[in-house]
Amino acid sequence: MIVRSALTLLLACSASSFTIAAIGGVFDDPENLTHLPESISPGQLRAVMKSFSKATGLRCSGCHVGEEGQSLTEYDFPSDENRYKRITREMMEMVTAVNDDHLSSLKGNKRINCMTCHRGIAEPHTTVQVLNKILNKKGIEAMITRHAELREQYYGTHSYDFSEAMLVTLAERQTERQPDHAIRILTLNLQHYPDSFQSHFMLGSLYQQQGQTDLARQSLLRADAIQPHPQVKQALKALESE
Ligand code: HEC
Ligand code: HEC
Repeated sequence: MIVRSALTLLLACSASSFTIAAIGGVFDDPENLTHLPESISPGQLRAVMKSFSKATGLRCSGCHVGEEGQSLTEYDFPSDENRYKRITREMMEMVTAVNDDHLSSLKGNKRINCMTCHRGIAEPHTTVQVLNKILNKKGIEAMITRHAELREQYYGTHSYDFSEAMLVTLAERQTERQPDHAIRILTLNLQHYPDSFQSHFMLGSLYQQQGQTDLARQSLLRADAIQPHPQVKQALKALESE
């Protein structure tokens, strides 16, 4: 029963690929299905595997024993040696449990699938979490480089968040502990969003704390020009009276 509902749910998002015939016969006689039903057709198995790939951004070799460039017929698909294949079974159980035990009582057939969390990448964390981790482990330069790389590769997809608010949130986490980092992050944000009110305002406050009055004034005036705000005016006033 659990198995059957898993299949229905997993296939729900890839219904369009059902009709495409399996290529090369790799899907014809599965020997080691512990979670998908044995009765699954080759076309359905192919559709499930395609949907796993799409959701996680992993190719067949990501979860199976086989090398890129090798013909699929040389892969050992029944093998459970690849850790990601085993993790995926765990994930299938989780998705089924969430849908059956936690969402089924909601109106309107609410369901999650792999894509709900993964959005095309293997490690589905928020962009703030990803960058924050690099910042803490490898430092600000590594974080800025990674941001540029991710932007290059993923801008315009739903895998990562490159909105104005994302770097502001990241900077907010640094204002207390590492104001220098916060300044770098906000400056980076202004390269992409020159009219970011939040970035100019926060920069103004940070420069002020550091005693860099000219820079503080510049930033606050810029914020004020973008969006008049009582707090900015107050900060400017405080600056003049220093
Ligand atoms: C995110 C991980 C993941 C990706 C990516 C993935 N698979 Fe799988 N695959 C699995 C899991 C897990 C199973 C076993 C399902 C079960 O136990 O019911 C499986 C089973 C199979 C089987 C059945 C093997 C057998 O004999 O039991 C075939 C064939 C297969 N996959 C082919 C592919 C192909 C081809 C691709 C690339 C298009 C692919 N898979 C991509 C996780 C993945
Ligand atoms: C509720 C959110 C959620 C759903 C739904 C979900 N996953 Fe995951 N998955 C995660 C998280 C979180 C991790 C851990 C990532 C990490 O390693 O930091 C993960 C890890 C994985 C990994 C290992 C990747 C790695 O680098 O550690 C694979 C493979 C994977 N999931 C496949 C799937 C597949 C296939 C599905 C659908 C059957 C699925 N997941 C559904 C949240 C989810």
